[in-house]
Amino acid sequence: MVLSIPRHIAIIMDGNGRWAQRRGRPRVFGHVRGSTRVRDVVREANRLGVKVLTLYAFSTENWSRPEAERKVLWKLLRKFLLRDAKELHQQNIRLRVIGEMERLDSETRLVLDQVMHQLCSNTGLQLTIALSYGSKRELVNAARAFAQDCLEGRRQADSMSEELMEHYLWTAGFGEFSQVDLFIRTSGEQRVSNFLLWQAAYAELVFTEVCWPDFSSENLMDAVREYSVRERRFGGLTKETNSSSIMAPIKKTKTGIFI
Ligand code: FPP
Repeated sequence: MVLSIPRHIAIIMDGNGRWAQRRGRPRVFGHVRGSTRVRDVVREANRLGVKVLTLYAFSTENWSRPEAERKVLWKLLRKFLLRDAKELHQQNIRLRVIGEMERLDSETRLVLDQVMHQLCSNTGLQLTIALSYGSKRELVNAARAFAQDCLEGRRQADSMSEELMEHYLWTAGFGEFSQVDLFIRTSGEQRVSNFLLWQAAYAELVFTEVCWPDFSSENLMDAVREYSVRERRFGGLTKETNSSSIMAPIKKTKTGIFI
């Protein structure tokens, strides 16, 4: 089987809480275990030659979780960055962040800035962490920024286009890789949950029953295999559809049905 490698993979790392509760442990235990899965998945994506891997680590809606849980999540993120920065650098991986950076605490922002700076000249996989991210917020911000540019005479209202819209999104710097090819959600839930709604317009969706704390590089490969057998038509027709099947003569039968 010839594997087709998605250029941009986005993952909703879901099911940490349920994974822990099923084992009689507190929810944060699932986050701790989940944070250890990130390294293997990043390494595998880089090995496969994926260009962008975007991980949904904290949504705009996650601010409604108890403060104690939020604190653990930020701590785990800082721990991952400080512990793995050297290895990410050795693997030529870059780091980006999308979301409302201004809402993060200063300690987390400092660590993110440090590590992004350390990895900024790398040319391999672009690891993107979505933090305080929500697509609706991203689109509202984009609309506001464009309206401001129009008010201040930098743009004309009718200059808005799909290409220009990309410049106003948090993924603006992603260039040709902004569109998601493969969108994975773990834990059996089948929703997109306000994640990359614009960027995943034509993504192939893969939902797996595996909860994030159990997700392995082999599970990532399974999703890539599934992606490889999908036929992406982007609203067009299959390669095999020839003109005779489109324009076949239509006849009326005795029962009045057209065939
Ligand atoms: C969803 O599980 C997961 C999250 C809200 C957080 C994801 C964070 C990590 C994996 C750890 C830190 C991240 C990095 C990049 C090192 P849930 O709590 O919603 O699970 P549930 O649906 O079972 O309740």
